[in-house]
Formats: sequence, C-alpha cells, structure tokens
Amino acid sequence: MAERLQKLIAQAGLASRRQAESWIAEGKVLLNGAVAKLGDRADLSIDQLLVDGRRLSAAEAKVTVLLNKPRGYVSSLKDPQGRKLVTDLVAALPQRLFPVGRLDYNTEGMLLLTNDGDLAQHLAHPRHHVEKTYLIKARGQMSAGIRRQLETGVVLDDGLTLPAKVGNIRSTGHSCWFELTLSEGRNRQVRRMCDLLGLPVVRLKRVRIGFLALADLKTGCYRRLSSTEVERLKRL
Ligand code: URA
Repeated sequence: MAERLQKLIAQAGLASRRQAESWIAEGKVLLNGAVAKLGDRADLSIDQLLVDGRRLSAAEAKVTVLLNKPRGYVSSLKDPQGRKLVTDLVAALPQRLFPVGRLDYNTEGMLLLTNDGDLAQHLAHPRHHVEKTYLIKARGQMSAGIRRQLETGVVLDDGLTLPAKVGNIRSTGHSCWFELTLSEGRNRQVRRMCDLLGLPVVRLKRVRIGFLALADLKTGCYRRLSSTEVERLKRL
C-alpha cells in the first residue's frame, strides 16, 4: 500500500512527520534513486526509499492484519508447550506482528495482529470500551432471566461485568446459539459469564471488533487492513 513518504519515515521511528517533511524538502530523501518531492508516495515492499543514505525496509512498514483464528492456536508469541501460534499463520509477511489482545486456545474468529504499537495500545486501553461481538454455542437454553442478567451485569470473581448485548438467539435441541456483545475484555470473560449462568460454552467465535466484521474471511486466512480502517480503529 503506497503511503506518503513522511508517514513511512515517521513510522520507522527515524523522525517526526514534520522533520521528515523538512528532510524531503532539503533533498535528503531518495525514492527509487531520484530525489523525492513532498507529496510522493511509496510502498516499501516495492519501492526503494533512502533517508540520509539509510534504506527503509519493508520490515519497518506498519502493518495490521485481521486474522480468522482457527481453534487450536495460541495467541501469544511463545508457548512453553510447543503448540501452534497465531503468528505462524502470518509468517509469510516480512514484518514481525504481535496479537492485539488474546483469544483462548479453542476460541475462533477475529484477531488483529500488528506491529503498530500505538494502535495496539489504543485498542487495549480499558477506557476505550471497544465493542466485541461473539457468536456462542452453549449447552442449555437461553431464558429471559439469563438474558436479563447478561444485559445488566454478572458478578464474576474479578467484579461486576458491564452490561452486554444479547442477540440472534436460536435453539437447537439441547443447545442454543446466540450473539453476545461486550465492551470490555477480561480473561476468558465470555466462558466465565456463561458458565456462571449455567450455559457452558461449546463453541466460541469472535465475529466483530468495533466496525470490523469477519465477513467471509476463511478460517486460518487473514487480510491486511487499509490505512483508512487503521485510522478509524485509532479513533474508536
Ligand atoms: N471470552 C472468552 O471466554 N474467551 C475468548 O477467547 C474471548 C472472550
């Protein structure tokens, strides 16, 4: 994705955007061998960008991807038990990405991975209450009472949960399916809330984070977010 040169230089941590603009104006930046002009754009995976003789590599470009995590993957950078890691699924990218938040080993669905520390910090901040929607299959049946408790708050061992939204309830014999939207992200929160209310979770899939939906992204596949999507996430 082509970005303005000053943005790429700032993202690589070489200078502020304003400083980078001055370098461009002073002719210190070369794009594919020619002196760059203000307003030029580059894609570091294709173009050669030299700043004061130093080449910016693709590994320094900020990238955020949306992964449809399969079950049976750990969403941390290492696993003492040697299980598969979500980062294995994005290993083809030149950047080293890290997951934003976690999904349990057996939870599927949407996980963001990035090398953009500002974005990760913004999304992880508890004050921002970014909404996340989960599709749940649970043993038992949803009742009006359980629904009310989910919607008002449940007392877990780490305190009262914020009100959640419940939707799309369906019953299938001994189980039910429903969607739960939370605006906080405590450890194993969905499983703990549902356990407490007598609806043990059988399948759990995150299908939405803020305005981003999983849509038709296949399990184990990822797509790169556009710069507009990343900017929107930073404003959430
Ligand atoms: N809540 C859970 O219980 N598990 C997850 O992986 C995500 C949310």
